[in-house]
Amino acid sequence: MKEKILDCLNKEHDYVSGDQISKHLGISRQGLWKHIQELKDSGYEIVAVPHLGYRLESCPDRLFPFEISRRLSTKFVGKKIYYFDYLASTMDLAMQLGMQLAPHGTLVLAESQTKGRGRLGRSWFSPKYKGIYLSLILRPLIPPAVSPVLTLLAAVSICEAVKKVLDLDVQIKWPNDVFIHNKKFTGILTEMNAEVDKINFVVIGIGLNVNNDKKSLIAQATSLKEQSGQPVNRVVLLQELLRKIENNYFLLEDKGAGPIIDKWRNFSLTLGKRVKVYCQNKHIEGQAVDIDQDGSLLIRKDSGLIQKVSSGDVMHCR
Ligand code: BTN
Repeated sequence: MKEKILDCLNKEHDYVSGDQISKHLGISRQGLWKHIQELKDSGYEIVAVPHLGYRLESCPDRLFPFEISRRLSTKFVGKKIYYFDYLASTMDLAMQLGMQLAPHGTLVLAESQTKGRGRLGRSWFSPKYKGIYLSLILRPLIPPAVSPVLTLLAAVSICEAVKKVLDLDVQIKWPNDVFIHNKKFTGILTEMNAEVDKINFVVIGIGLNVNNDKKSLIAQATSLKEQSGQPVNRVVLLQELLRKIENNYFLLEDKGAGPIIDKWRNFSLTLGKRVKVYCQNKHIEGQAVDIDQDGSLLIRKDSGLIQKVSSGDVMHCR
């Protein structure tokens, strides 16, 4: 109901009579008043003037599910949203929900995380209302060995969404860190519950630095606000990201991994560079020549031998 009331108020950008809204939505004046109070308690500035009605003055900077769902028009991504002011980690709850058979496309969102986790046992700094911290539950009908393509799909979707909303030049550093001007602003963490030949569910965790101030970030990191020079509307960005994920997911179902890998190559910061990849207490050095269908990096060593690396930390040499 809240999203419908906001739609009525937004459409006019002026006073809308309570009578008109109540009739349009089929609720009582009393019921409408209650919803308006709740919206005000959530931070919406709504003025009420006798004989004129209600007017929406401003919306709070929050990722409320009813804001995300408004005009989202996806088929499955974000149809069910769990939203919290804070969580230890959206990954923990999403993994639990996955076990409890939460549907394909279920989204867990938090405004902050106290134990946000990253790849290779690292933590993810998740200050309140500054970023987007989400975990998406997917139930893909693909063999477990093909699952890394879902992480590539997420990275590509982030690039496409940021390009569309902010027109910034984004690039992916293998395996799935998203960069602008050689600084990281997004990380992706994928966890899976699977049997030998069947995926039960996959959780894709995405952390985006959106409105973080430069001084709160380490030197190697950036935020979209720092790069675009102005605060970014997190709702608009998140909606676009969910649409891109869904479109790319349908593309994967339709045409297989090829088109997603091609898009990944186009956004790659790593391919063509001399790299050092650190994995399991050793490092491999050479030219990053391509990625495989399973997301592995192919490195041409100085001996000419092509070595395939499936995980690790990559350093660009030049
Ligand atoms: C990385 O770059 O190391 C991956 C970072 C992934 C962070 C996101 S934030 C939302 C989700 N919840 C977590 O605890 N981690 C992921």
